[in-house]
Amino acid sequence: MKLVLKRIVLPFLVITILALLVTKWINMPRTPKEFFEKRCTNCHDLPDLTEYTAEEIPKLVDFMRNSKNAKRYISEDEAIVIIDYIVSTKASIPVSVDSLENERR
Ligand code: HEC
Repeated sequence: MKLVLKRIVLPFLVITILALLVTKWINMPRTPKEFFEKRCTNCHDLPDLTEYTAEEIPKLVDFMRNSKNAKRYISEDEAIVIIDYIVSTKASIPVSVDSLENERR
């Protein structure tokens, strides 16, 4: 019985635990986009944020964390990364053609 435990059950357990850890590691979000996509879909589909302005995004994420209990899934640091990412998809820095021409002179 002891031999069975040592030769079969133990290696099986070790491999199972390793497989779980590797799966967890593979599924970890790595880029800001992935943090947004993974964290913000814990409770609902990926939200359509086209109606929100860049200024509203921090308030929206705070609202999710503080009023909708998203704190359970989204840490403070992750919230900053996610806000940065969403805002970056919106912000288009207006560049006037005039200022470019002036630079060239
Ligand atoms: C803990 C669960 C949870 C997480 C995580 C979560 N939300 Fe929500 N969210 C809700 C609930 C609950 C509602 C309101 C009911 C619904 O529409 O399902 C909601 C609604 C919304 C709405 C619609 C708001 C409105 O007034 O119609 C937006 C937009 C939204 N969430 C964005 C986000 C974003 C962006 C994230 C990631 C930062 C996020 N949510 C993460 C729970 C969550």
